[in-house]
Amino acid sequence: MTGIELALAGLRQRPTAPIALKQPLEVDQLPTPALVLDLPTLDRNIAKMSGHLQRHGKAIRPHSKTHKCPLIAQRQLAAGALGICAAKPSEAAAMIHGGIKQILLTSPVVTESKAQLIASLLAPEVDLMMVVDSMPGLDILARHLSPEHRIGLLVDVDLSMGRTGVRELDDILGLVEQISADPRFRFAGIQHYAGHLMHLSDYDKRREKSLTAWERLDDIFRALDERGFVPAIVTGGGTGTFDIDIDVGRLTELQVGSYVFMDEEYRALGSARGERFVDFDVSLTVACSTISRPQQPTITVDGGYKAFASDSVAPICVQMPDLRYHFAGDEHGVLVLGDGERAVDLGQVIEFITPHCDPTVNLHELYWVREADGMVHSCWPITARGCSW
Ligand SMILES: Cc1ncc(COP(=O)(O)O)c(C=O)c1O
Repeated sequence: MTGIELALAGLRQRPTAPIALKQPLEVDQLPTPALVLDLPTLDRNIAKMSGHLQRHGKAIRPHSKTHKCPLIAQRQLAAGALGICAAKPSEAAAMIHGGIKQILLTSPVVTESKAQLIASLLAPEVDLMMVVDSMPGLDILARHLSPEHRIGLLVDVDLSMGRTGVRELDDILGLVEQISADPRFRFAGIQHYAGHLMHLSDYDKRREKSLTAWERLDDIFRALDERGFVPAIVTGGGTGTFDIDIDVGRLTELQVGSYVFMDEEYRALGSARGERFVDFDVSLTVACSTISRPQQPTITVDGGYKAFASDSVAPICVQMPDLRYHFAGDEHGVLVLGDGERAVDLGQVIEFITPHCDPTVNLHELYWVREADGMVHSCWPITARGCSW
């Protein structure tokens, strides 16, 4: 077996369907730390984003890097998404394994092993598109893919983020020309994702910077038009610009991800509605138990770096938003109890809003799915957990 075959074989054994519980559970009966997904809120967020984009004439291709769960992708498709995005080839493989067939891979592939992986995913029923941002990347795909699939390629354009993408007009045109001249490929469009703008806290600044960035792409579109290259898909945008990028005429679709769950990083931003970003509700929490009280004003919970992403703000307690949480190592967090919170006792289960939802999800194996009756009836597998290869 090659390394890729071995890794894929493991992936294809992962569960994708809901796992029903023998008996419904209250959140405080879960084995903590537990990732809790509130289904009615999830569905409301999905419906709200789809309705918003449809009303503004934009398509939605949600990013599965946020949830890594084919069951959630299916709900997004049912609400009108024309496909989903995947960040890495393995994430695409996990989605295909879970029955999702329309996928845009949003990171470039430039190595033999990944090109082989892509080739192994192609099948008549799979509509896989991907981005390229370099000639070496295009060459490696050309070596591994055959004309029978005629895979759709989008050129990833970077303006100022400096993460992925090609910046110079000549390089962009060179890639489009090469793609169009090769029977293995089809020029499908342009991707531009300005991730560094998504979390600008001032809404007006976020709006101004995002629209200005898209305006700077006009020269590229003009040059493509003049040469007869039609970018049928122009994709980008995220939750932070969901109500901004709808004003970009050339944009055909948004790649929104975090809106399904919302996290504290997003909620702390300004929005068109005021000082907080409350257009979507929090559907994702981590339930932790209080397990120790070595000193009076604090109490220790069983969730630390292995339960919450720690790259941004601190987790926020749902029931007591003023309660301060400190990371206290891999397995623990410490809560500082103010006067009003002294009643918190040992053995209590407390829910926290995630600091940053995507990397938090990646730490867990299952969503514990809470339904409209407030009870957890099933678990949904996070099939693409760890799929960053
Ligand atoms: C390429 C790309 N598109 C879309 C998204 C989704 O962004 P958000 O979660 O802010 O909606 C991300 C998130 O990191 C991304 O990297």
